[in-house]
Amino acid sequence: MAAVVRMMEAELAAVERQFERNLDSRVPLIQTVGRYVLTSGGKRIRPLLLLLSARLCGYRGDRAVPLASIVEFIHTATLLHDDVVDDADLRRGQKSANTVWGNEATVLVGDFLFSKSFSLMVGDGDLRVLRAMADATTALAEGEILELLKTCDLDVTVEEYLDVIRNKTAVLIAAACEVGALLGVADEGRVAALKGYGMDVGIAFQLVDDCLDFVGDRERFGKPVGADLEEGKITLPVIHALGAATDEERDRVARLVEQDAFSDDDRAWVREFVVRRGGVDAALGMARDRVEQAKARLAAFPACPEREALGVVADYVVARDR
Ligand code: IPE
Ligand code: IPE
Ligand code: MG
Ligand code: MG
Repeated sequence: MAAVVRMMEAELAAVERQFERNLDSRVPLIQTVGRYVLTSGGKRIRPLLLLLSARLCGYRGDRAVPLASIVEFIHTATLLHDDVVDDADLRRGQKSANTVWGNEATVLVGDFLFSKSFSLMVGDGDLRVLRAMADATTALAEGEILELLKTCDLDVTVEEYLDVIRNKTAVLIAAACEVGALLGVADEGRVAALKGYGMDVGIAFQLVDDCLDFVGDRERFGKPVGADLEEGKITLPVIHALGAATDEERDRVARLVEQDAFSDDDRAWVREFVVRRGGVDAALGMARDRVEQAKARLAAFPACPEREALGVVADYVVARDR
């Protein structure tokens, strides 16, 4: 992955400079909160995918960098909102914005980032790009709400879970790839191949995120661990573990999710239970299958450094620990 980042270094640096311009506002708090979250070390997966997809489709013009910054702006807005909804105290290894500035300011700065993204896209002027991103943000909101509706529901099915993660996470990653493809000269089949690649990578990405919530290291992950079930989120590792659980284990999980907070013992038990019942292995296995599917879609393109790099990014998604 380091080689891929090096290959795209100049454009990624330009994306960082673009953030500063995008944050321009007469309201100082917007720049303060915006800079705080944007300079805290996000992985920049979405801009990277947009830039690589554009290059894979032969694009060498100057629209890719601004659009890559917009996709990261949208992502950042969702993180601000998500940490309020999840009541999370840590993001990218530092205090979450809601912890520092409170929920009100955090939600409103998230709104600014969303709105600014769309006004910048109107500036770009390509209705196909605007449609891809508008559809993605709509789906994203639906995904987050669907997840909320499934809170504490131990009967949630694998299909319902996949529906949530497809919408809340994969659709934006797919849109990043699609927008990159739209910039280049790709026929419909190739645009669909890249969008499908993004969808598969995105599903794998969230599956792994949900595993890291159980087996990740807080320092390395930069986010709270063991927090999803405590928040009532029934993710694939839990769904799978419940499928293999005894009645006693299931009853304990049912009692736990109704609790406001877990004790250290509860947390340790949950982690041990989910791992022992194979929940993490099952979710990682599913993520690996998705990544293989994603890479197979790249066969629509001739071999080249960009295609190779997208393969590396797909592999990174399952290998990552942060
Ligand atoms: C976090 O996304 C939210 C999920 C979809 C799991 P990232 O893991 O891409 O977050 P950053 O941008 O690198 O912090
Ligand atoms: C986040 O899901 C998805 C978004 C669209 C923001 P999570 O709630 O699992 O993401 P993290 O773990 O807080 O980054
Ligand atoms: Mg969250
Ligand atoms: Mg998570």
